[in-house]
Amino acid sequence: MSPGGRFLLTHARIVAHGNSLQDAEILVEGERIAGVGKPGELHVPTDAIVVDVRKHLVLPGLIDPHVHLRDSGVPHAEERQKEDFVSGTKAAVAGGVTTVLDMPNTLPPTTSLAAFKTKRDHAAKTSFCDFGLYAGAAQDNLAAVPAMIRAGAVACKMYVGSSTGNLLVAESTLEETFFKSAAENDYVLAIHAEDQACLEKHAAFYDDKKAPRHNEVRPPECAELAVARAISFARTYRTKTYVCHSSTAAEAGLIRAAKAEGLPVFMEVAPHHLFFDQSEHDVQHNRVRMNPPLRSRADVKALWTALNDGTADTIGTDHAPHTLEQKRKPYWEAPSGVPGLETVLPLLVTAALGEKTTLERVQQLCCQNPARIFGLQGKGRLEAGCDADLVFVDLDVEKAVGESTLFTRCGWSPYAGMRLRGWPLKTYLRGRLVFDRGQPFGHFGKMVSPLQTNTA
Ligand code: DOR
Ligand code: ZN
Ligand code: ZN
Repeated sequence: MSPGGRFLLTHARIVAHGNSLQDAEILVEGERIAGVGKPGELHVPTDAIVVDVRKHLVLPGLIDPHVHLRDSGVPHAEERQKEDFVSGTKAAVAGGVTTVLDMPNTLPPTTSLAAFKTKRDHAAKTSFCDFGLYAGAAQDNLAAVPAMIRAGAVACKMYVGSSTGNLLVAESTLEETFFKSAAENDYVLAIHAEDQACLEKHAAFYDDKKAPRHNEVRPPECAELAVARAISFARTYRTKTYVCHSSTAAEAGLIRAAKAEGLPVFMEVAPHHLFFDQSEHDVQHNRVRMNPPLRSRADVKALWTALNDGTADTIGTDHAPHTLEQKRKPYWEAPSGVPGLETVLPLLVTAALGEKTTLERVQQLCCQNPARIFGLQGKGRLEAGCDADLVFVDLDVEKAVGESTLFTRCGWSPYAGMRLRGWPLKTYLRGRLVFDRGQPFGHFGKMVSPLQTNTA
């Protein structure tokens, strides 16, 4: 497919309800979907080229609302060993992800309009998929955030507990000021919700132990405290509040109640918190060290419940590559974060086929909901007028996660060896083939932003 042409996808199967699929044909004209219908139902122009999908599942390209591609646009040798826009977005399209929203904790961080523009211009030249950029909240940049939003940032990310990088808003009066400003300037405030004072208290207690469980050093109560405070500010100012990587039963309970109250509070869940519990540390050690940490089995169960009952809104991979060399360091020196772009879809499809959730829910969490929450018009749906971002998914073949075929530069996966179904066969970005037969094609990515309107 090349943009400008007309294509009819025949013998496609699309998600109907639950896990049931329906036969469909999809007409693509240029960069957009022109129609979706039952076989034979669409009016097809005679010059349309037919592409036989061979009964594979077709989903809208995934939107990953939470990635760390490590690339500020200013070359940084150490970060380049982990990822950049090229390797990270190759991983994205190989994983069926056609839009990534990139976090601001790069070097330098995305905390000024100049830094934002540098990253934007660099990503526009190198990205294999569409991308949105977060502005970062810092101690001294309250006024710079609306400027970045006006330049097209998708949202502002605020760390209320420290993690990779040095972005931190630990002081609750400044935190509150960001909630107020976000409401006034109508931007989404995405929170890394682990309370800094709570983290410091526990770290001080454990730092004489050789290798404590990460979940003890950064316990659930720190996350609960931060989410409870965020919700109270959301109640005061009606701020659109996006809780990143919610990992505990307590957070799910608080967010469920906030939604019932009618507050605009959104819940993201990361795959690692769904597919591992804290006992995985005994097997993979620092490889599964991330912030927030892997939690108890009861927490994992509560996340699946939240995912299925509509409390959780999105799946964000928190794709956060680090080198294995760094991961082999002792606990207190090893960095936090795991890659996830290439495994999110097979993990969730396999879970749906095993009836832990449904394909309908996966499509909502990974496509529709992120587009709605971040205001990305024309994304995340298989409907006439939407961007022709498509992924063909193989439901039949089961394959183990391999590390040698990954595109992420860090070259490893916490899911290595896991047997999964639901691997992407082909990925299209606005009508262009960007992944086929194991090979990504690029650099067609454009910036997405809530400022853009879909003119279709
Ligand atoms: O595990 C994490 N890794 N959590 C974060 O908050 C940051 C991320 C990273 O950038 O490495
Ligand atoms: Zn985070
Ligand atoms: Zn993150």
